[in-house]
Amino acid sequence: MSEENFKANNFTNLPDIRSYTWSSPSNIALIKYWGKNKNQTPKNTSISFTLSNSRTITTLELNKKNKADNNILFDVYYKNKKIDEFRPKIDLFFRNILEHCSYLKEYSFKIITANTFPHSSGIASSASGMSALALCVMSLERDLDSTMKEEYFYKKASFLSRIGSGSACRSILGGINLWGKHTEVEKSTDLYSIKYPYEICKDFLDYNDTILLVDTEAKKVSSSDGHKLMNNHIYADKRYKTAQKNVIRLKSILKNGNLNSFTSLIEEEAMMLHALMMTSNPSYVLIKPNTLKIINSIKNYRETTKIPICFTLDAGANVHVLYPKEGEKEVESFIESELKKYCKNHLYIKDKVGFGSIQL
Ligand code: DP6
Repeated sequence: MSEENFKANNFTNLPDIRSYTWSSPSNIALIKYWGKNKNQTPKNTSISFTLSNSRTITTLELNKKNKADNNILFDVYYKNKKIDEFRPKIDLFFRNILEHCSYLKEYSFKIITANTFPHSSGIASSASGMSALALCVMSLERDLDSTMKEEYFYKKASFLSRIGSGSACRSILGGINLWGKHTEVEKSTDLYSIKYPYEICKDFLDYNDTILLVDTEAKKVSSSDGHKLMNNHIYADKRYKTAQKNVIRLKSILKNGNLNSFTSLIEEEAMMLHALMMTSNPSYVLIKPNTLKIINSIKNYRETTKIPICFTLDAGANVHVLYPKEGEKEVESFIESELKKYCKNHLYIKDKVGFGSIQL
């Protein structure tokens, strides 16, 4: 499939008013997307767990304009309050998808959005937020095109989400998702994410992810700026090659369920992501002293108990603690007694691999 396949027809008989609501989850990358091309395609393949409880619920209300034009008119409400914080990213999103969804020129929009996790928790809400919005847009397109197949609906929803925020394309479907062309993964593409196509050991289907909220302030360097710093990064080529190799390593781990190899690979990926930030020009550090305390505590606990608990990080100071269902009670009392104290306001979110987006 190419971009051309995602250009919508010129529809007639557009409805005057419509409203759609979707709930879309966040995701946590196991193999990280870090570095992108100008057209918002990734420099390497990434693989993620879709989460269950960390979600954005978005309603898109559409009102037909008197005359279609390229002006993007919209208001954003977080719960009941009109806010401007998300405007620039949403404005850019609409502008960038207009060529694929020309029917949007006919409408003005009201967007009402809310997260199930604390708004300022520092959890990336762009993945859940952009995918929920893209799904609302696709619901309109599906109403206009009665011949649309379900497979196309979800592919284009992922394609549009990607244009909004790269990692968002992996938040459409549940379970494990893969985004970015890989020579050894059939049907993989830079355009949208696909459901991970190989055998998965059952341990990974309900894996736990407890998110420790170390820092809830806005990040000093945004993910988008971080991706840009990969353009002239001295380790860029090595990173992209390593990521492609790590996809293959993960493929055999997901199949054979070797949890010790899983913990090594996942932590390598997390540390490499932050090492890239620390060695970019200019360099920057997003982890905090408490991030390191948590990391060391997890490593010690794993060494003494032999329980295959591990950590991963996204582009921030918060720590995702990953562990299997078997032995979860023990790990959770360790989190309560040893890790909670390092979280801001003692806040953490219990989450796990989940089922993907749903229309409400
Ligand atoms: C570290 O998807 O937030 O979480 O495409 O610029 O919106 P943009 O970036 P974004 O980058 C996510 C980076 C990451 C790794 C990952 O999710 O794969």
